Amino acid sequence: MKSLATLAIAAAAFTLAAPVSAQSFAKPEDAIKYRQGAFRVMSAHFGALGAMANNRAPFDPQAAARHGDVIALVSHLPFAGFAAGTDKGENTRAKAEIWTEQPKFRAAAEKMQSEVGKLAAAAKTGNLDNLKAAFGPAAGSCKACHDDFRRD
Ligand code: HEC
Repeated sequence: MKSLATLAIAAAAFTLAAPVSAQSFAKPEDAIKYRQGAFRVMSAHFGALGAMANNRAPFDPQAAARHGDVIALVSHLPFAGFAAGTDKGENTRAKAEIWTEQPKFRAAAEKMQSEVGKLAAAAKTGNLDNLKAAFGPAAGSCKACHDDFRRD
C-alpha cells in the first residue's frame, strides 16, 4: 500500500511538473532567476518541514503532507534553469563544474529528488517519527550538491 502511494505521488509530481525547456528563457539572467526562485520556494517548504522534524514547530500532519507534495513537485523544476551559457554572471553562485561534470550534477539532482520523494511519502503517514527519519537524508542530499556545485 505504501509503495503504491509512493508511486502515485511520483507519477503526480512528474505529470504536474512539466519543466520549461532551456529555450523558454530569453536571457541567461532569466534562467538564473528561475532556478534560484525554484530553489527558494523549495527551501521555504523544506524549512517548514524541518522545523516540525526538529521540534521547533508543532507537528501539523496536514500541513506536513502539503509541504511534502510541494517540495517533491518543485524538486524537478530548478534544473531546466541550468542551461548552457548560464554559468557566468555576478548574480549566480553556480560553479563551472555543473557544466563540466554534468553526469555527477545530474546524479546529485536525482538523489535529492529521490530523497524528497521519500520525505513526501513519510510526511503523508501522519507520523512524526517517519518525518524525522526521512528529513535528515533529504537535507543531506541538498548539502551534498551545494558542497560540490555551489559557491559560498
Ligand atoms: C543538484 C544540485 C543541487 C541540489 C540537489 C540542491 N541544490 Fe540548492 N542550489 C544548487 C545550486 C547550483 C545553487 C546556486 C544557483 C545559482 O545561484 O544560480 C543552489 C541554490 C540554492 C538556494 C539559493 C537560491 C537563491 O536565492 O539564490 C537555496 C535556498 C537552495 N539551493 C536550497 C536547496 C534545498 C533546500 C535543497 C534540497 C531540498 C537543494 N537546494 C538541493 C544546487 C543544488
